[in-house]
Amino acid sequence: MEVFAAAEAAAQLILQRTQLRPRIGLVLGSGLGGFADSLTDATRIPYSEIPQFPRSTAIGHAGQLVMGKAGAVPVAAMQGRVHLYEGYSPQQVAFPMRVFRRMGIRALILTNAAGGINRNYRQGALVLIRDHINLQGTNPLVGPNDDRFGIRFPDMTRAYCQGYREIACQEAGKLGMDLHQGVYAAMLGPSYESPAEINFLRIIGADLVGMSTVTEVITARHMEINLLAISCVTNMAAGILDRPLSHREVMETGERVKSSFEALLRAVLPPIERDLSP
Ligand code: HPA
Repeated sequence: MEVFAAAEAAAQLILQRTQLRPRIGLVLGSGLGGFADSLTDATRIPYSEIPQFPRSTAIGHAGQLVMGKAGAVPVAAMQGRVHLYEGYSPQQVAFPMRVFRRMGIRALILTNAAGGINRNYRQGALVLIRDHINLQGTNPLVGPNDDRFGIRFPDMTRAYCQGYREIACQEAGKLGMDLHQGVYAAMLGPSYESPAEINFLRIIGADLVGMSTVTEVITARHMEINLLAISCVTNMAAGILDRPLSHREVMETGERVKSSFEALLRAVLPPIERDLSP
């Protein structure tokens, strides 16, 4: 089936299971999925029940779509995402964003775990992504363009909505939280970077490194969905501290920042919802 029709079919199946009509989508990354457990009036749909939806295999990713409310704001939350390193094609990683759009999603909040390259960051810091460097060697828009989704050559100069970043900074201020802004370098993974690669990434202007998010960002911007992306610095990147990296450390830091991270998410939703025109 062509992608447009498949996305439409998946969207219809999801909407049939709930009365909620969210306009904000969330993608919750490694160790950050707990937010979806706190949603009320929730309908949980395992990815395996959604036609053509890729299933997440990474540890720390639950693999379900949760339709529910955060306070008064209805959201569609992906509890766990898929990555290129799992062997999925860029189009498969992009597919949930296509489904979001067909469901009527107009704003997106992406979260991820990332390695900190900028030496001003500390483990556990939260960083708004202000731009990215795609080093994954691929792009979800490769192939014929479907004009119903968007144009052939979408702009990336304002991929990370300035207005949403201002909202996030304001809300973080009210919560007494520190919030950085930085450039995210996307690597294919699944091996962590070498210290020499991290040095290279710093020289070319990256503050953070991770293995996700950029495929979703490009796909969302293709469809003119506005977005906010938040990284949790779960570890300092390779070679910065004198110790090896481990997935366990990534998960443990996610767990540690869970409450402030969830508080920030909860706080940005109402102003983002208000910002959407009716
Ligand atoms: N590198 C790549 N991806 C990551 C890292 C890292 O150090 N930490 C969490 N995700």
